Amino acid sequence: MAEKFKVESPNVRYLKDVIEADYNYSTNQVYEENGVTKVKPCSTKFTFRTEKKVPKLGVMLVGWGGNNGTTVTAAVLANQMGLSWMTKTGKKVANYYGSLFQSSTVCLGRGPDGEIFIPFRDLLPMVHPNDIVFDGWDISSMNLADAMKRAEVLDWQLQEQLKPFMEKLKPRPSIYIPEFIAANQEDRADHILHGTKAEQVQKIREDIQDFKRLSGVDKVIVLWTANTERFCDVIPGINDTADHLLQAIELGLEVSPSTMFAVASILEGCAYINGSPQNTFVPGAIELATRHSVFIGGDDFKSGQTKIKSVLVDFLVGAGLKTVSIVSYNHLGNNDGKNLSAPQQFRSKEISKSNVVDDMVQSNPILYGPNEKPDHCVVIKYVPYVGDSKRAMDEYSSEIMMGGTNTIVIHNTCEDSLLASPIILDLVILTELCQRITFCTEQDQDFQTFHSVLSILSFLCKAPLVPQGTPVVNALFRQRNCIENILRACLGLYPQNHMMLEYKMQ
Ligand code: NAI
Repeated sequence: MAEKFKVESPNVRYLKDVIEADYNYSTNQVYEENGVTKVKPCSTKFTFRTEKKVPKLGVMLVGWGGNNGTTVTAAVLANQMGLSWMTKTGKKVANYYGSLFQSSTVCLGRGPDGEIFIPFRDLLPMVHPNDIVFDGWDISSMNLADAMKRAEVLDWQLQEQLKPFMEKLKPRPSIYIPEFIAANQEDRADHILHGTKAEQVQKIREDIQDFKRLSGVDKVIVLWTANTERFCDVIPGINDTADHLLQAIELGLEVSPSTMFAVASILEGCAYINGSPQNTFVPGAIELATRHSVFIGGDDFKSGQTKIKSVLVDFLVGAGLKTVSIVSYNHLGNNDGKNLSAPQQFRSKEISKSNVVDDMVQSNPILYGPNEKPDHCVVIKYVPYVGDSKRAMDEYSSEIMMGGTNTIVIHNTCEDSLLASPIILDLVILTELCQRITFCTEQDQDFQTFHSVLSILSFLCKAPLVPQGTPVVNALFRQRNCIENILRACLGLYPQNHMMLEYKMQ
């Protein structure tokens, strides 16, 4: 694939199969000496290597027949075919709005006429969503055309055009352990695997192989967009190590379906991403991924309310305003909402939504004492009438100067699956790109890959999974800069510093 632009630098080499870039990574080390805080700027020389050949990517969705699964598949088909359709407000054309890579831009630098922006997707060779081949599993046997209709997300005229293509797509039967999702899901579970846990994991592995063979894709990424499960206990001897987890599957002990899918994917060498809040990645699953050098990422798509929260609180605390209370109500009427109306599944969502401002609060000891946090309350109610058009109402109260209070109230109405679908695409595209990037420092003998726990995905996740001991970043623009600056580093380009000194001189 021809580059969309070329970096002119002695540090960057465009070789036959790879782009290689030398890059000085600059950080500041802080330490205490004789009661004085000292800061030492330091720099490490890295070499990044990015394979240029973009593979044919297959994505297998767990929960393919759900609202997200059908919507993302339909959206890709509609974009592939360049479909348009009429609604009461006029003609709509298929697009990828909401996708970081397809619909946002990065600034390359300054040209003669000002700053030059390019699509984010053009920064490095990436999979285009139109080229992704989908497959997947669901505990509901409906074909994707009927499931799309059940989801009530897309306009009818678009559904009619997609029906001949979508009805040919049928999810594979899946692992169903009733106690992990809400009891109210039972009536759609007509498409399930039988046999022992070990046999079911084996069947999922065979499905991945089968899909790869039939579709001719070069690699497969598996992504969980099935119902939110309840949390599972981390139990020594069962899921605390990779070997215990594998043994627990053999013995038929408690392992959640999402963890069984993770194990099957990892053993097949396929990256696995968790789009729901539950703790799929028990320590044993993380160890297994590390052992097999397979990427895992999650948790829980960061689509609406949390995305705003991780911008707004960053703004408030960053501006020196002390946010003291955040109250978030949601009501939604899709099947996700129905599942979340059960207490244990709601609890998973509550946990994943609750820590999202921690890093911003901890960054400001002027405003917050060591154990001080804003009050933070999350409520989710199931209201069938609103369907996928979720309502989110948020109240942020902040203490301002001289005892004043600033209360901001936000009301957000939005089709949930149309926010989640572009995130699904970005997750798999970024994960695939990371599989083609290796790097080393001057001291290293060999090039290495990113850590198996792929924390660069944080921008897209509500409760980012990071390697042990790594700070969790929730602030949205820090997360976005992380992606952009790492991809820039792969081209030997400096990070965006926004100083614009060239415009500040006499
Ligand atoms: P949905 O309920 O429409 O779809 C889930 C699908 O998973 C259903 O078709 C169900 O039959 C299937 N399923 C349940 N257990 C399964 C299993 N063990 N194996 C295979 N399939 C199984 O839900 P929706 O709206 O598509 O959301 C999916 C997940 O994404 C939920 O957990 C939700 O919390 C999460 N999420 C969604 C966001 C959004 O904006 N839509 C944002 C953040 C997370």
